[in-house]
This record gives sequence, structure tokens and C-alpha cells, in this order.
Amino acid sequence: RNAFMKIAVIGTGVVGLTTGAGFADLGHSVLCVDIDAAKIAQLSKGLVPYYEPGLQELVTRNLDAGRLQFGGAPSHALRDAELLFVAVGTPTDDHGEMSLASLWSVIDRLEPWTGDSVKMIAIKSTVPVGTADRVEARLRSRLPEECLVDVASVPEFMREGSAVRDFFDPSRIVIGVASPETGARLELLHRRLPGGIIVTDRRSSELAKLASNAFLAVKISYANEMAALAEQTGADYPSVAKIMGHDPRIGPLFLNAGLGFGGSCLPKDTRALVRLADEAGAPQTLVAAAVRANVMLPLRTVRKLEAALSDPGRRKVALLGLAFKPGTDDMREAPSLRLAAELLRRNPGVRLTAYDPAAGEAARKLLPGAVKICATAEEALTGADAAIIVTEWREFRLFQAEDFKKWMNRPIIIDGRNSLDSEALNAQGVVCIGAGRLPAIPVEQIRLPGELLPKS
Ligand code: UDX
Repeated sequence: RNAFMKIAVIGTGVVGLTTGAGFADLGHSVLCVDIDAAKIAQLSKGLVPYYEPGLQELVTRNLDAGRLQFGGAPSHALRDAELLFVAVGTPTDDHGEMSLASLWSVIDRLEPWTGDSVKMIAIKSTVPVGTADRVEARLRSRLPEECLVDVASVPEFMREGSAVRDFFDPSRIVIGVASPETGARLELLHRRLPGGIIVTDRRSSELAKLASNAFLAVKISYANEMAALAEQTGADYPSVAKIMGHDPRIGPLFLNAGLGFGGSCLPKDTRALVRLADEAGAPQTLVAAAVRANVMLPLRTVRKLEAALSDPGRRKVALLGLAFKPGTDDMREAPSLRLAAELLRRNPGVRLTAYDPAAGEAARKLLPGAVKICATAEEALTGADAAIIVTEWREFRLFQAEDFKKWMNRPIIIDGRNSLDSEALNAQGVVCIGAGRLPAIPVEQIRLPGELLPKS
């Protein structure tokens, strides 16, 4: 049996829209809804309102084929569909409190349906452990008894910038269920996708998602702290990482030093996990430390700049790359925001220019007004006394030493992501200081005094 399903998806962010368009592409009939009427109006015309490689084509193709539809009120989503994916945002505040307001508003507005099949609600949003249980209890107490419903946890692991690829080629598919029937139906739905399917209970599924993101955060913070140690001791972190990565138990991925993790998932999910763990009486001290270490990184980079450039308050500094990672225009929790704020706070008078190939417009609304957003890297670099590569966009790698020397007042580059060939640049008279790398200028000059992390 490979029956096509009627699916509804609530929430048209990267996760919801990619999931909806992806299942439509697999032949299912999908209705995507959102409370944002303007977004739905755009999507109905076939316009994806943000940049995600391959998603526009996927949406257009399935809209034209009639398998994908937009609109309808979220409250009606379950009237015709047998499966509802919930992919709404679950923002976390600074204290790790995850807001389930959007999720509850969806759940509390679902209208009763008729018919005798069990409707499935699959939660894709990242949520605290136990949420699927609570959703089910809340629905059962509100809906008439004849509305049969079963709630599942189907977390999403897709990355921004490769969401479409990740949908069609997932690392794993996790299905957390309380009933074997729902498990079997959801397994059938995912059968045409490669990657192992793991069916488990709902709480394990919910925790596995948080645990995976937190592990990645710990790995990155480990890399960044080790890179700082390499700087302080005159070792070369990229060599150290390469050597570590050859051990299959460690692996080479997610060991790159930089200005830290940002984005819509890792920062918020780690904070939420720390809070949840404290409340559950099983504190995650490693994850808490990873969060603290991450927050300190922009300050460390500012201090590197201050060590390399005298009197920064009277200089012009260019920031290259503003999005939280290359290949996206997403500024959510981007390290560039904290970096710019720290630079201005510690060095009043510093003139900041900034350039990003995709996130310039988004950054304009978020960066302090004093930062001049430029249309090209050349414009940002022209007359600058130093540049900081914050996000490692490909195009920065194409610049030659001659370009930097021609454009900049002084060719000093803090390569925050080790994206340039620093040896080659240094040999040609550009001061390029990588993350966790031996600097071109004497170690003593950029050695940072003491411990940077606060004690708790
Ligand atoms: C992440 C997870 O990868 C994904 O599985 C989950 O579903 C959502 O969160 P995403 O937020 O798209 O996906 O970003 P990802 O590509 O994983 O990068 C996360 C951050 O870590 C970026 O800010 C990136 O710059 C940083 N990073 C990554 C490093 O600093 N060093 C590395 O080695 C890798």
C-alpha cells in the first residue's frame, strides 16, 4: 500500500514550507496554512518570501501540478486532512523559557471534524519534552469524543540553506508515537525518503531533537575554546582540528572555530535544554558552559582587533559577512550583531562599514544605526584600517592580496572563520589573523590577558 495522503501543514517557515512542498513533490496532496495572511497571499501566487535554495522551484512545480495549495484558516486544517504537521515557531527567551504560545493557539483553534478515521497531529516544531503528551490531553479534553486524534513527535533536522536537499536526503527520520498504528502510518508516509526511520516513544523523540542540537553546540564551543588555547600557546588550531578529526570517534565536521553558532535553532534550543534540564533535576552543565562560551566569542574577536590595531576609536573597520552562516539571509542570533555592538561599546568613534551578499537589508534593521551597510565588499573595504570576516561567504575567498592592499588603508584582516589562505596573504604583505592560528604579527602583541570567560 502506498496511498497518497491528504496533509495539512501549519506554519510556512523554512521547515513547514519545505516539508509541505516536499511531500507534495512525493505525490501527496498538501495544504499549507499560516496566520500571516500576507505571506499566504504571496505563496498562493507562487512567491517564496525568503531565500532558501531550491525551495522556490519546488513550490512552483507543485503549485502548478495542483498538489500544493495555500490558504484556508488554520482552524480548518484538520477538516479534510488526515495528517497535520505543526511547524510553528517556538521562540526561547534569554532565560531559556520556550514559548509555546503559537503551538497552543493552533491546537486550541482546531475545529471538530466528522468521520471515523483517526486524525494525526505530528509536531515538527522543537518543543520541551512532554509537549506531545500535553497537546493530546488538551485536545481530548476539548474536542467531542467522536473526534479521534493521535499526536506524534516528528522532529526536523534540516539545515537552513540546504533544507530542500535535507528533506529529500535526511540523516534520519524520527517518529515518536504512543500508538503503533500511528507509527505505521507515519512510517509509510516517509518510506519513499532515504535515511533510516527510527520509531520511538514521543518523549525520546522530543529529547533526541534537543540533545542533537545541544551536542552540536557543545562541539562548536569546544572547538572555539580550543582555538583560543591554540592562540594563547602559539599552536595552530586548524592543524589541531584536522588531527582530531581523523579519529572516527571525533569526526571532522563541526570542529571549525569562528565567532560562534547563531541562527534560529542552536542558540534557542540550547538555552531551552539547559532550563528544562534544571527544572527536571538533571542539570546539563556541559551545554550551559557551551552557551556561555559562545556568547563570549564576539568580545574575544574585538579584543583581537584592538591588539592588532592601535586606537580603533579613530579607525574605520569593515565587517564582512553578517548572516549567521553563509548561504542564507537569516540574521537571527547572528554573531555579527553582538560583534558590532561590542566594537562600538568598547571603541566609541570607530567607523563601521558592513557587507553581506544576502543579508544586507535584514541587517540594516538590526545593526546599530552607526553601521554603514554597503552594496559591495569593495565599498565596505575601501579606506578601512582593518576588516573582520564574520561569516565565511565564498566570494571573500576570491579576493587577492592585491585587492586588499589596493582598497584598504591598512591591510589588516581578522579572519574570524579561517576562510582565507592566511599564509599566502601574510607572505604578500597582508596581515591576516585567523581563528586559533599563529598570527603574522608576534604572538606577544595579540596575546590576550587572562581568562576571558566569567566564572559562572
Ligand atoms: C542547525 C542543525 O544543523 C540542524 O540539524 C537543526 O535542525 C537546526 O539547527 P542551522 O541552524 O541551519 O541548523 O545551522 P548549521 O548549519 O547547523 O550551523 C549552525 C551554526 O554553527 C552556524 O552559526 C555556523 O556558523 C556555526 N558553526 C557550524 C561553527 O561555528 N562551526 C562549525 O564547525 C559548524
